[in-house]
Amino acid sequence: PMPVIFDTDPGIDDAMALYLLARHPALDLRAITTVFGNASVEVTSRNGQLLAAFFEQAVPVAKGAAGPLHVDAEREFSVHVHGDDGLGGVASMINVEVSPLDARPAFQLICDMVNAEPGAITLIAVGPLTNLALALRHDPSIASKVHRVIVMGGAFGTQARCGNVTPVAEANIINDPEAADLVFSADWPVVIVGLDVTHETVMSEAYLSSLQGRGGKVGDFLWQATRHYQDFYNAVDGIKGVYAHDASAIVYAIEPEAFTLRAGPVRVVTEGIARGQTIQDFRKPSGAQTPWSGCPAQQVCIAVQAERVLAIFDQAF
Ligand code: BDR
Ligand code: CA
Repeated sequence: PMPVIFDTDPGIDDAMALYLLARHPALDLRAITTVFGNASVEVTSRNGQLLAAFFEQAVPVAKGAAGPLHVDAEREFSVHVHGDDGLGGVASMINVEVSPLDARPAFQLICDMVNAEPGAITLIAVGPLTNLALALRHDPSIASKVHRVIVMGGAFGTQARCGNVTPVAEANIINDPEAADLVFSADWPVVIVGLDVTHETVMSEAYLSSLQGRGGKVGDFLWQATRHYQDFYNAVDGIKGVYAHDASAIVYAIEPEAFTLRAGPVRVVTEGIARGQTIQDFRKPSGAQTPWSGCPAQQVCIAVQAERVLAIFDQAF
């Protein structure tokens, strides 16, 4: 199985992603690192501990960044999307004893684990990319030692809809655009699973309600947690269900053939009204100098077979 560090801001869809990661035999969860985003890092870390115990994962949980790289950048938690407790108001349904947090900050745990097994670790990041940027700054040599980075984030406008926080920006990226730009420009292989594909994959209300009674307490919890999330998406997008944002990044690790990729360097807009926009240069190299020159080609998911994503998630139950 593929050894994975899961960097996350749980988060309702983060919880669904973690469940799939914990259950799937092709993946070997080694650690959870937490970051601010859907709630404060105190709340997301507590949720990381709760979910690890709930899903019976005896792995270290390390607390990460409380805010973006540039502390003067605007910061706002998505409590209107994920609830005050980050889990749709039902975190109290998880009645388990939690293990203490790892003593290290998230970036240090990432560096230690990557250095201990060069070439092995896949980083799956489904929150703001601050921890990954801090790890790269702390030890740039990790770039050549990570097997792959899979990011849920960004919006490239290849489908009908684009950003979710602004017309062009996705939440994880706009929460720390400077970190995202650093992570995408670094010389390591990144696959970006953004809104272009996650907006195509809806878990319907009927499906979510069918989880009750399946998968025991976890099914009940996910149904209750997603009710809040469903109300939000129903109000803003008119869909009856939720997007499988973070779970799609896990599915990419399991079944990459379900996605269509496009290659080219990716940069992030860090100023002005387009702050947080992700832009890939997928043209043939012309030799002209641009802000994308010298950045490695990364892979952006531009299409997905949604039914395969949903089927893999379903198998976890
Ligand atoms: C992303 O933002 C967060 O709210 C979700 O957990 C997901 O990672 C979707 O834009
Ligand atoms: Ca997330």
